[in-house]
Amino acid sequence: MAPLDPHSYADGESPLTTHVALTLYLDFATCSLHGSALLTLSAPHSGPLSLDTRSLTIHSAIDPTSLSPIPFSLSPPDPVLGSQLSLSLPAETPLSSILLSFSTSSSSALHFLSPSQAASPFPYAYTQCQSIHARSIFPCHDTPAARIRFSALLNIPSSLSAVMAARHHARCDPVPSEGGLSCPDSLWCAPGRIVEQFVMDQPIPPYLFAFAVGHIVYRDIGPRTRVYAGPDVVDEAAREFSGTEEMIRAGEKLFGPYDWVRFDLLVLPMSFPYGGMENPRMVFLTPTVIKGDAAGAQVVAHELAHSWTGNLITNKTNEDFWLNEGFTTYAERRIVEVVQGEERAALNMGIGWRGLNRTVERFRDNMEFTKLKPCMQGVDPDDVYSEIPYEKGFQFLWRIERQVGRPVFDEFTKKYISTFKFQSIDTETFIDFLKANVPGIENQIDLRLWVEGTGIPPDAMEPVSAVYNKIKTLASEFKNGQMPGEDEVAQWNGQEWELYLENLSSNVDPSQALALDARYRLSESRDWEVKVAFLELAISAGCKEYYAEAERSLKQVGRMKYLRPLYTALAKCSDEGKMLARRIYAEARNCYHPIAQGVVESILSKHA
Ligand code: BES
Ligand code: ZN
Repeated sequence: MAPLDPHSYADGESPLTTHVALTLYLDFATCSLHGSALLTLSAPHSGPLSLDTRSLTIHSAIDPTSLSPIPFSLSPPDPVLGSQLSLSLPAETPLSSILLSFSTSSSSALHFLSPSQAASPFPYAYTQCQSIHARSIFPCHDTPAARIRFSALLNIPSSLSAVMAARHHARCDPVPSEGGLSCPDSLWCAPGRIVEQFVMDQPIPPYLFAFAVGHIVYRDIGPRTRVYAGPDVVDEAAREFSGTEEMIRAGEKLFGPYDWVRFDLLVLPMSFPYGGMENPRMVFLTPTVIKGDAAGAQVVAHELAHSWTGNLITNKTNEDFWLNEGFTTYAERRIVEVVQGEERAALNMGIGWRGLNRTVERFRDNMEFTKLKPCMQGVDPDDVYSEIPYEKGFQFLWRIERQVGRPVFDEFTKKYISTFKFQSIDTETFIDFLKANVPGIENQIDLRLWVEGTGIPPDAMEPVSAVYNKIKTLASEFKNGQMPGEDEVAQWNGQEWELYLENLSSNVDPSQALALDARYRLSESRDWEVKVAFLELAISAGCKEYYAEAERSLKQVGRMKYLRPLYTALAKCSDEGKMLARRIYAEARNCYHPIAQGVVESILSKHA
């Protein structure tokens, strides 16, 4: 049968799942997860039905009404897709629901942290499902083309609490105190354990399924926003993100009502592999965005923007990923423009433009991945994650905005969102909608070249930003040994430094790097962007003086944005650097999320 999505075993003809009722038991002693999933299909079905799984052991599949077993088999794992779970639903009585029970102790989505890894007296566990890891938590139609509602019971140690990208319904004890709720399944709930109940009643793509369990406390920072974090960072986080409500209002003005009721933020342990993840109702964030200078607002603006572009309108498959990230990058910059001003937005656009050019250069030998809509058959989305969908997508939308003018484009965007909300769409649907609503646009912009072409189209535009230009000039002066003056850098935050360091020519000599650091102490910066950009430059320049700092950093942080450049710089610079990178990885491996482990391993094997 025709596949629906190159990254899923779901076929195009059988009904898809519309609801999942999950029970998940988290065992911290063995770092394993045991669960059951009651799947509801969009229509009764007989015969073969295919689900996605990865690293799951399937214990049973039964018809929940008759309790009769459903025959099933699990295929050998494909390195990208995982294992296909093939069920044979009875021919005589079509089923509209299936009950599965399963376990895993090596889920690619789930990271268990010991207390020392979590830098806490308590252990921690959290998920990261985008792009194709939800299948390693529970068997599902793991394609964004399928939208599901769900309920979930999380059985966890009573010393911890659970949060989810869903509505919290109740926390219930096996032995309820007065007024408390009793556990829905008293046999299942033993002393020392509690059950947290959640409900998601809006349909979401499976990659937005998310939970975290640990010693988590919270502060309210707005009428619909609460910051959740460990007790040691929660107050700092609450200060950093105090401008969130203003951003939600800006988003609503630009893109229409905020439809997810709550916009809470969860600050995870240092191992979280991304800057931010747009899990609905509760964005997941790395603690590295807390800098004390409100710079974290950009990441929050981005994840907030996904509430409209990504979570309301979702890419149908990963080939349409630019619909999520390009639109969100555009929307993020519009929000930043409102709350932080035009100059800051222009600087972000400038940084994005550089990133786009650098990435196209990186994919010189694999131009397919410079397309807005690449072919992803057989390709692991984690292996080709890049700035292309973000920045080429941004450039495409900005090009359309320049053509039609901002007022017309804003009206178009609002209509696009209200037309397709709670749907998963492909690039062709977007293009058809664009042509229908902006008649003649295809004669003004080469839409096919933008969507199907490689590289950067000739009508893309380098943004104009005074700060950006000034930094470029300063960077070019470094060649003659001239450093920026104290007064020039006084107002710089991480982004300015990052841009400056990136613009220095790639053959900075070691003494220059040392001199720059002696003056501005970049290797000790509290700002991870600055510190990592500097260490990458200095190590690439051959300064062994920074190996120790690189090691400390790599053992402290799990965000892939920092692991990638540091491991690559070490692995590329010398045999000694290569050996060091291997040793650091062997020692730090368990502190990284499984997705990050995969990324570091591929860097190390590329430079073996
Ligand atoms: N959805 C992405 C993160 C992601 C992408 C996870 C693909 C897994 C697969 C998120 O919205 C994102 O783009 N995060 C950025 C933030 C930045 C662009 C402000 C990040 O983590 O760096
Ligand atoms: Zn994003």
